[in-house]
Amino acid sequence: MSSLEEISALDARLISDAMRLRFYPLAVERANGCRVWDVQGRSYLDFTAGWAVVNTGYGHPRFKEALLDQLERSNFASLISGMHTPALRLAEKLVALTPGDFPKKVWFGFCGSDANETVGRLLPIATGKRRLVSFIGAYHGATTASMAMSAHAAQSHFIGGGHVVKVPYPYPYRCPFGDEVQDCARATIRFLEEYIFRTICPPDDVAGIIVETVQSDGGDIVPPPTFLPMLADLCQRYGIYLVVDDVKAGMGRTGRMFSPEHFGVIPDVLVLGKALGNGVPLSAVVARKEVLDVGVGLAIFTTAGNPLSCAAGLATIEAIEQEGMVENAARVGAYLHQRLSTLQERHPLVGDVRGMGLMQGVELVKDRQTKTPASKEAAKVAYRAFELGLLLFYVGMFSNVLEITPPLILSEAEVDEGVAILDQALADVEAGRVSDEVIAPYAGW
Ligand SMILES: Cc1ncc(COP(=O)(O)O)c(C=O)c1O
Repeated sequence: MSSLEEISALDARLISDAMRLRFYPLAVERANGCRVWDVQGRSYLDFTAGWAVVNTGYGHPRFKEALLDQLERSNFASLISGMHTPALRLAEKLVALTPGDFPKKVWFGFCGSDANETVGRLLPIATGKRRLVSFIGAYHGATTASMAMSAHAAQSHFIGGGHVVKVPYPYPYRCPFGDEVQDCARATIRFLEEYIFRTICPPDDVAGIIVETVQSDGGDIVPPPTFLPMLADLCQRYGIYLVVDDVKAGMGRTGRMFSPEHFGVIPDVLVLGKALGNGVPLSAVVARKEVLDVGVGLAIFTTAGNPLSCAAGLATIEAIEQEGMVENAARVGAYLHQRLSTLQERHPLVGDVRGMGLMQGVELVKDRQTKTPASKEAAKVAYRAFELGLLLFYVGMFSNVLEITPPLILSEAEVDEGVAILDQALADVEAGRVSDEVIAPYAGW
């Protein structure tokens, strides 16, 4: 099997629609660094890192070596009914590296969804309180309980649990409290404290507030810098645990190893996934000991915390730390932001450019005055960029934000190359050179 037609036919026949979120017909053959090659031998510059997963770049030698070395020793050992060094070394590293000078423990899973679900299960037991607060636009996962904690438009067909109270997120470009509001972060905190807490959600019954530092799937929304500190202060005043979901923004992506570090905020619970395993399924909850020690066997998956995943996690962290990838994300991310901002000057479609480090979003609008979301145009730009050799996805509550989350090893020359392609793709869409028909099979979000 090698042709794209054969692969597409098999894919259509065998792979469930429930696991599709496709933007173009990509069939990957191999990948290296920031580049991906398809089955036809075409190469692409990857501005996705496969949904912010491959932070070290594809085929990193240290990562390959660590996996092969672990395979030589053993391909499996149970952590739930035994002990092994890879899990202990990774847990030790995570406890030391994450913010917070208090007794911590680690729970391991496979993906962001199971990690957030576990937090949502254990927090009420740890506190004796029933409710959780999360933010509209959040994407915390695709298991039933993590979907219940989320509030993304793409999941609105799903009715979550009534114990999760969802409140607006400070979205500076479209402040939910009105365009005339000067301080969207303060308005959000005030609404939560003075309205929600006084009406439907008594704070003494709230176990935790879960938040993304940058709401990525919600549209790469960067809240005002005062937001996270104010939220942490609110949590402290009411004795509520602060949970930061750093599944997508963590592991160096925003220019700090963990995103709350930008704001000097120390979460009680930090949730990690995606890039932690660099492509090997692995997630972790690093939290105050009392949150994770509430009973034996309350969140066990047979192969969670397996030696291969943990060896992958440790090698990933070492590569990120020792090869200056966090610093590169900060430096090249700033350059990327500046280059993307120049597109805003030339293309009326570009309404806003925002982001932190190598997590940047370009929000497309039909009209800058009305800010009407340009959803179909976002799908067309992603498709056209693919045709021109650049991989990117779109996200957002209105499906209109081009998301850029490349591997953290991206160079400035690669920024120039990718932005030039994006420039061309935007021009082609604005000139009507991309038809509705070509994007019809790709529903996206
Ligand atoms: C912030 C955040 N949390 C959790 C998840 C869920 O992670 P996973 O898809 O690995 O289960 C995602 C996935 O996009 C995410 O962006």
